[in-house]
Amino acid sequence: MDKFVIRGGKKLSGSIVISGSKNGTLPLMAAALLTRGVTVLRNTPYLRDIQTLSNVLRVVGARVYGGARTVRIDTRHCNHFEAPYDLVKTMRASFYMLGPLLARYGRVRVSLPGGCAWGPRPVDLHLKGLEALGANVTVAHGYVEATAKRLTGGVFKFDKVSVGATANVVMAATLARGVTRLINTAQEPEITFLVQVLNKMGARIRHTRDGVEIRGVDRLRPVNVSVIPDRIEAGTFIAATTLCGGKITLKNCPSAHLGSTIEAFEKAGAKIQVRKNSLTVEGPAKVRPLEIATAPYPGFPTDLQAQMMALLSVAGGTSIITDTIYPDRFTHVPELNRLGANIRLQGNAAVILGVKALSGAQVMATDLRASAALVIAGLKAGGETHLSRVYHIDRGYEKIEEKFRALGASVKRTMDGPVEPAVPADA
Ligand code: EPU
Repeated sequence: MDKFVIRGGKKLSGSIVISGSKNGTLPLMAAALLTRGVTVLRNTPYLRDIQTLSNVLRVVGARVYGGARTVRIDTRHCNHFEAPYDLVKTMRASFYMLGPLLARYGRVRVSLPGGCAWGPRPVDLHLKGLEALGANVTVAHGYVEATAKRLTGGVFKFDKVSVGATANVVMAATLARGVTRLINTAQEPEITFLVQVLNKMGARIRHTRDGVEIRGVDRLRPVNVSVIPDRIEAGTFIAATTLCGGKITLKNCPSAHLGSTIEAFEKAGAKIQVRKNSLTVEGPAKVRPLEIATAPYPGFPTDLQAQMMALLSVAGGTSIITDTIYPDRFTHVPELNRLGANIRLQGNAAVILGVKALSGAQVMATDLRASAALVIAGLKAGGETHLSRVYHIDRGYEKIEEKFRALGASVKRTMDGPVEPAVPADA
């Protein structure tokens, strides 16, 4: 198992290029199943999660050819409609297979993804949304089975904003007979991008005041598209520079997709300059405390909550972070405390008493974004931090240690031991 050895205390400087978006790529890979032919996705990140979904697509008969920057998905030979437990358990996003397979082939069987490292993550909205399109859905023995000769347009209101359920139901509705109106859909940039790509495939989707309207079509065609850059990777490097100090430039940075993220880091003291395709961030002499709550886009993303906590741990005062999306997403708290932070939990909020300094320690990555928080805390901490189980970080950050090294940081990947345990499905 790989681990990182981080020598903290250096300011960051230089520039890096932001990779293609993980959460932007995954639904597009599933959307390829709505077409017959070869879909080409460019600017894809080279990540373990992309490899996992490629393997799920291969199980249903798709041919997936991948390099570091391009994924080609040939759906001409799909002949199997099941996404098995062994693969789905390692990555929740495999559940994206449900809507497209059902819409295109009239039947599907997908394993329930189960909980993840920080608690339960239900799929009820995915299922209710598909039922509203006329699907016959059953859940038994850990699998969801759905059938529909052809889905029919319907009206469905999500009682909670869900990225994954929005993506699944929108994808399914593209091939339904008639018009579907979805209300209270997710507005995340990855969803807006999915809608753009589906329209390029021939779908007829338009945004409405409170959601989307989809006019079903008979078939969609494969496309060749470039994936949007990763706003969470960009936010992670903004967090690191706000914490460690220095000045860096992020190229290919999706500034327009950062929502309230830029404002939040500015409140914490960062100086941020947005240009056409790049963003420059300069860290403050002292981080300012903050009260902040995560919220659906354009609110502050839950996927940057842990990284924000790392930097507030050395703020000049007390901060409070509330996670309204995932009330238990706090596995990083005891690990940050090992580095000398003073954080206690109160329900779905963390109270962070700013400390003077962090100091290196042995810590363990528990999920993707928690690991990112521990890397940036380690970069600030005096002395050496050993972060084990970095396979979590490889799921969602492309060569993060190389990017930090390019910014002058000292992060080394080494081997920790021979056995790699199963990866929990946290993304
Ligand atoms: N929810 C339900 N029922 C459902 C679906 C969701 O109650 O059927 C609830 C969830 O429990 C949560 C809220 O709705 O409280 C939002 O969950 P959502 O469905 O939006 O999450 P997701 O689609 O499973 C995606 C990202 C996550 C990110 C969340 C929130 C992907 C592949 N995953 O998950 O990304 O945290 O949206 O923005 O896009 C990550 O990249 O580290 C990651 C976990």
